[in-house]
Amino acid sequence: MATTGLSAGERIIVDTDCGYYGDDGMTLTMLLRSPAVAKVEGITVVSGNVWARQSARYVGEIQKLLRTRVPVYFGEEMPLRHTMAQADEEHAKWGPLEFRGAFSEKKPAKIPRVEKEPAVAYLTRMIEANPGGITIVALGPLTNIARVLEKQPALAGKIRRLVFMGGQYRVPGNASKEAEFNFWFDPEAASMVLRAPIPEKLMFGLDVCNKVMLDKQGFDAITMRRTALTKRFRQDFGVRYPGFLKNPKATVSLWDALVAAWFVDPSQFRNAERLALDVETRFGPQYGKVVLSENAGGIPVTMYNEADAASIHQVVRRLLTQ
Ligand code: RIB
Ligand code: CA
Repeated sequence: MATTGLSAGERIIVDTDCGYYGDDGMTLTMLLRSPAVAKVEGITVVSGNVWARQSARYVGEIQKLLRTRVPVYFGEEMPLRHTMAQADEEHAKWGPLEFRGAFSEKKPAKIPRVEKEPAVAYLTRMIEANPGGITIVALGPLTNIARVLEKQPALAGKIRRLVFMGGQYRVPGNASKEAEFNFWFDPEAASMVLRAPIPEKLMFGLDVCNKVMLDKQGFDAITMRRTALTKRFRQDFGVRYPGFLKNPKATVSLWDALVAAWFVDPSQFRNAERLALDVETRFGPQYGKVVLSENAGGIPVTMYNEADAASIHQVVRRLLTQ
């Protein structure tokens, strides 16, 4: 079973494909406002929802609103193998694709000002220098983490734990019919990381994320508190996606924010299963789908199935409106 005893201020590095705000922005807000349970040492950006260079800009803007200055490191712009052309082929042959993230965006010309050290070098340095002391919180495709382990496989055993939003098991995908977006965007990276002997791998997949949905009432409860941060939240969730202001019947999963809620209070999550999981990497209609695997690197994944949605909504509201 996953250890739930969190020492005060667990040292974490957040790996994110943060869009304008979205669930990644909510998660960054919640973690950066919870120093008693999470000490955010660094933020690494990766392409997923948007291109890594867009994420770097958005993380900078969100940190300004939070008045935090956690160093940001620039990560991998392209998945290990997956390409835009393949996404077009998937859509034509086995589609429709529900969401393509950066593959449907124009890559900006400029990389915003970030730390000089590349994300993969930073992650490697921090894991090497703090054996068993750094937790990786992954909110997007696992490309950066996979690049670290590709170069130095032995680092897997030196990571304290990986806590990530990604994948699905008994439910359909949300990028393709079969695969969840983070795993669909980079299936090879997801497979490598799921099979890596990281001491603890805590998975918040669609199986539990689909049970914690934000609706217009929850949206209103956050936006009624007028701050610069809730204004950005309102612009994203109200106007861009899912567009609560034009479509009051919309609902959207809190996805990544469940990871932050876990750090705040792990007891909100129940019915964890330990499963030997892998990811389909053959190019086809199941590309990126989570599968059971006999050779899953020896350390199973702990996948949560149930959550106390009411309590999680309260935690989200408290931290976003403070
Ligand atoms: O499937 C949900 C995941 O895809 C979340 O991490 C969301 O931010 C998007 O990246
Ligand atoms: Ca994300």
